[in-house]
Amino acid sequence: MSDQPSADEATVAALLRAARALLAERSDTAALDAELLLAATLGKPRSFLYAWPDHAPTASVRARFEAAVAARSSGTPVAYTLGVKEFFGIDLAVNPSVLIPRPDTETLVECAIERIPMGSAVVDLGTGSGAVAVVLARERPDCRLLATDRSLPALRVAQGNARHHDCQVAWLCADWTSALAARSVDVLLSNPPYVAEGDPHLAALAAEPVNALVSGRDGLDAIRAIVADAPRVLRAGGQLLLEHGWDQAAAVRALLCEAGFEALESVRDLNGHERVSLGRRAADAIR
Ligand SMILES: C[S@@+](CC[C@H](N)C(=O)[O-])C[C@H]1O[C@@H](n2cnc3c(N)ncnc32)[C@H](O)[C@@H]1O
Repeated sequence: MSDQPSADEATVAALLRAARALLAERSDTAALDAELLLAATLGKPRSFLYAWPDHAPTASVRARFEAAVAARSSGTPVAYTLGVKEFFGIDLAVNPSVLIPRPDTETLVECAIERIPMGSAVVDLGTGSGAVAVVLARERPDCRLLATDRSLPALRVAQGNARHHDCQVAWLCADWTSALAARSVDVLLSNPPYVAEGDPHLAALAAEPVNALVSGRDGLDAIRAIVADAPRVLRAGGQLLLEHGWDQAAAVRALLCEAGFEALESVRDLNGHERVSLGRRAADAIR
C-alpha cells in the first residue's frame, strides 16, 4: 500500500485486496481480519464494505487502517486492535491483559446455564475479561455470581464489562479458591489455563497473557490446584465444571475421581471433542 494511491487504489475494494494479500501469510482469516479492521476504522458495519466497494476513504482513515493492518501483520490479534470481542452474543471489551474469549468456552457456559440449580452461589475462577461471569449473570439472574482472578488488570476489564452489561457480579483478586470460605459455594466453574509449557501452538498466541494460557509441563497444574481445594469450598452436592483441552478429559476425570467427586461427566463441543468435565461433591458422611 503506497502513501499516495491512485483513485482506483484508494477504494474500499482495493484497500481490502491489498490488506488481504499482506495478511495472508500471518492469518488464516486474512479476508475477515481485513474487513473487520476496515469497517471499524470507518466506523461502519461490515455490510458497508459490500454495499460501497468503490467508496474512497479519507487519507486519515487509510492511514489508521494501514497501521491496524501492520499491527495484525506483526501478530496483534484483531480483537486487541478493535478492543472488543463478541462472546455468546454480547460484545466484551478486551485488552492485552486478558485472554480473548473463545467460542470453545461457550460449551462451558451452555453447560452451566443448563445445570446450575436455581438460586445457586456460583464462582467463576479465573474470570479474565469476565466472559463467563457476565454471560451467566445475564442468563441466570436467579444466581449470585462471584468472579475471581489473580490478575488485577484483568479484573478491571471484567468489572467494566459487567458494568457495561448492567450485571451484578462480585469480584475477588485471589489465587483460585484460596480466599473462599469453606462450604460456601454451590457451583464452581472455570476456564483455567491448560496449555502445556513448550506447546508449539503457543507461538501463535504470543500476544495473549502467558498466565492465562500455560499451566505447567502437562497443562494441568491449574486444574490440579482447583480440584484439590474444591471439596473444601463446595457445599455437599455442589458442582465443579472445568473447561480443558480436547485431549485432557480422561486426565481431568481421573483428578475429579481422586478428589472424591461423583457423577463424573464430560461434555463434547460441536466438533465432538470432550471439552468440559464436571463432577458433584459427595454428601458429607453421617458421623
Ligand atoms: C484461560 S483464561 C480464562 C479467561 C476467561 N474466563 C475466559 O474464559 O475467557 C484463565 C484466567 O485465569 C487467570 N489465572 C491464572 N492463574 C490464576 C490463579 N492462580 N488464580 C486465579 N486466576 C488465575 C488468568 O489471569 C486468566 O484470566
